[in-house]
Amino acid sequence: MTSQSKPKYYLTTPIYYVNDKPHIGHAYTTLACDFLARFKRLDGFDVCLLTGTDEHGQKVEKAALDAGVSPQDFTDSVSQNFRDLTGSLNFSNDDFIRTTESRHKAACQALWNLLRDRGHITLGSYSGWYATRDEAFYTESELVDGMAPTGAPVEWVEEPSYFFNLSHWQDKLLAFYEAHPDFVGPDSRFNEVKSFVAGGLRDLSVSRASFKWGVPVPNDDDHVMYVWLDALTNYITATGWPVDGNFGDAEKYAHLWPADLHMVGKDILRFHAVYWPAFLMAADLPLPKRVFAHGWWTNEGQKISKSLGNAIDPLALADQYGLDQMRYFLMREVPFGKDGDYSTQAMIHRMNGDLANDLGNLSQRVLSMVFKNCDGVMPAFPERPTAEDKALIAAADALLPAVREQMDRQGFHEALRLIWQVIADANRYVDAAAPWALKKTDPARMAEVLAVLAEIIRQVAILVQPLMPDSAEKMLDQLGVVADQRSFAQIGGATRLASGHVIAKPEPVFPRYVEEEAV
Ligand code: MSP
Repeated sequence: MTSQSKPKYYLTTPIYYVNDKPHIGHAYTTLACDFLARFKRLDGFDVCLLTGTDEHGQKVEKAALDAGVSPQDFTDSVSQNFRDLTGSLNFSNDDFIRTTESRHKAACQALWNLLRDRGHITLGSYSGWYATRDEAFYTESELVDGMAPTGAPVEWVEEPSYFFNLSHWQDKLLAFYEAHPDFVGPDSRFNEVKSFVAGGLRDLSVSRASFKWGVPVPNDDDHVMYVWLDALTNYITATGWPVDGNFGDAEKYAHLWPADLHMVGKDILRFHAVYWPAFLMAADLPLPKRVFAHGWWTNEGQKISKSLGNAIDPLALADQYGLDQMRYFLMREVPFGKDGDYSTQAMIHRMNGDLANDLGNLSQRVLSMVFKNCDGVMPAFPERPTAEDKALIAAADALLPAVREQMDRQGFHEALRLIWQVIADANRYVDAAAPWALKKTDPARMAEVLAVLAEIIRQVAILVQPLMPDSAEKMLDQLGVVADQRSFAQIGGATRLASGHVIAKPEPVFPRYVEEEAV
């Protein structure tokens, strides 16, 4: 299939503030998107995965000041840390956007002009509370003990400001939610969004006049754009919008927009499910199809915070336990959409249980027997499979549609659970069939049992490629599955593992973590 004939899938991560170095929260959102993006590619989609950095606003300006460098130098260096994460955590993003790029400033200004020309942005003055840490405005009634509801410190701001007529969009947003029941996931979060909007919307201040580090408001040098209007626009900038501008790309825009999924953390859902659709409606641009809000990680039961200094460094985790092991843990341990806790014990438990024991041992046992007992030649699939063979094969063949359904609703943990159920079935099958005992009594049946198992491992390895690309590659190499036979078109019964080829001496793919256990 050419990329033209494939259906497209455009998904985005939030763009990350560059006031901090990347931590587990950032890695988590991008990993979830990477898992889904790789899945969709193998499932025949033309995927575009966008990530990047959010570089304007007071928070970043202050971080640069604290570091004693200019905002531009500061953002250049911190943005690079996020870009490097792509390589070190094996992310497959197709683009990396920085809000300080010219293409992005042009898109922000074009959107601003559109909103202003349509009468949705007007000049007024703002007086109220502002929390730089959240880059958000709060009313007096929202404050809790003099702080933002998020716990962030607030300051009183009084300055001229442009306003977006958010209140005008309340009913239209509610009607849109009604007509698009899948717009926000999980459902509980969608309900929160609906009640927030139903509770009444205030017009939104969309410019700041007291500092300079932002996209200049067209025709008014005293103002820079509110960082969230700037930031949200990145999703459409990257598609080549506005198509008639200097950076325009009509074909790309028509292909990519609207986005299929904006993945965000629960803390920034309101910006994506309320403000962003309102801006787009006001500009008469199509709305994204879905926004999914995931939960937050704590560290050994404690909230992760700068003051506690307990941020988890994803690179350190990958170094200690292995990259694919970390990727697996983060997607499997916590139901996606819920909050979860990181603990060393849980990490080791998953790594040694699900990976080393369940999948790793299965593959190593089966391939070692093929290597030793079949002269290293992959045996042929049984011509007359037994009822047990059929049941196991049927379970593997049925996986793809079930896993796909979960992936499409961001049920990542559930998709993995389904795959691991078949791995458990295969382990039960191998114990019951005992091919090691058949070696002397019935070598022909032993060969059949090994062929059935190798086929299960092939299907599982193809399915886990999106999450554990390196390990899956090793497994498929060991099985002798050629590179162009590794897409989802090759599973579900469409083809079977070829036989008659010679395999190399297998090496374990998922090591046990022993050191820490001994402690
Ligand atoms: N710059 C804004 C997003 C603009 S998108 C148009 C921003 N940046 S951020 O760097 O502060 O956060 C980015 C993401 O990291 C958010 O989705 C947030 O939920 C996520 N996380 C930050 N800490 C987290 C945890 N402890 N656990 C899981 N995710 C968390 O917000």
